Amino acid sequence: MKLFLDTASIEQIRTVNRWGVLAGVTTNPTLVAREGGDPDAVWRTILDEVEGDVSLEVTATETDAMTAQGRDLAKLGEQAVVKLPMTPDGLAAATILGAEGIRINITLVFSPAQAILAAEAGAYCVSPFLGRLDDAGADGMGVLRTICDLYAVQGYQTNVLAASLRHPMHVVDAALAGADIATMPYDVFTKLVEHPLTDIGLDRFQADWNQLQRELGGEATS
Ligand code: E4P
Repeated sequence: MKLFLDTASIEQIRTVNRWGVLAGVTTNPTLVAREGGDPDAVWRTILDEVEGDVSLEVTATETDAMTAQGRDLAKLGEQAVVKLPMTPDGLAAATILGAEGIRINITLVFSPAQAILAAEAGAYCVSPFLGRLDDAGADGMGVLRTICDLYAVQGYQTNVLAASLRHPMHVVDAALAGADIATMPYDVFTKLVEHPLTDIGLDRFQADWNQLQRELGGEATS
């Protein structure tokens, strides 16, 4: 399962990119607005930094305008994936843009039925929002599992991109469900690294090593 950051912050992207495990980035209008300034500049900076897929979302709501905006977004870089909402107009735009070879991420997906439509429209990926389903009292992970299962049964090639992940176990369970991609905010990505026993173990190794150095009359390493 590929790991994506769900952010438009170039500082966050650069930090995680240094670890060598970042396969892509997803953005949405809220995340881009949070950065302020010219959205085009925000997207271009991200595309310059990231080698993998970068999802850029349209803000138009009618098919013709979505299609035009999607074409412009796709021109920003070869890693650009155009994000379209799961609406009738979004599906129509996905069909047009897909036929032109533009990769589409169908977003704001909350049910297996919507995921079937995304696959039938030939989307490159589909984004079920787990955390928002959980917030609404539904079973986000259950929906993801059903989507992964039905895609396997049907042989759909559309990638399942688990989105709106809120904690590390969401990431682990998404991997077990068979998601192709998991996108998560910076705080969840950093929590994947952390474990208190790692910190305790490292402190102990360093203390023991430094003690040995003192006994040998040498310099401690930290
Ligand atoms: C995915 O592409 C979305 O941008 C994102 O996962 C939404 O997450 P949220 O529910 O935390 O806003």
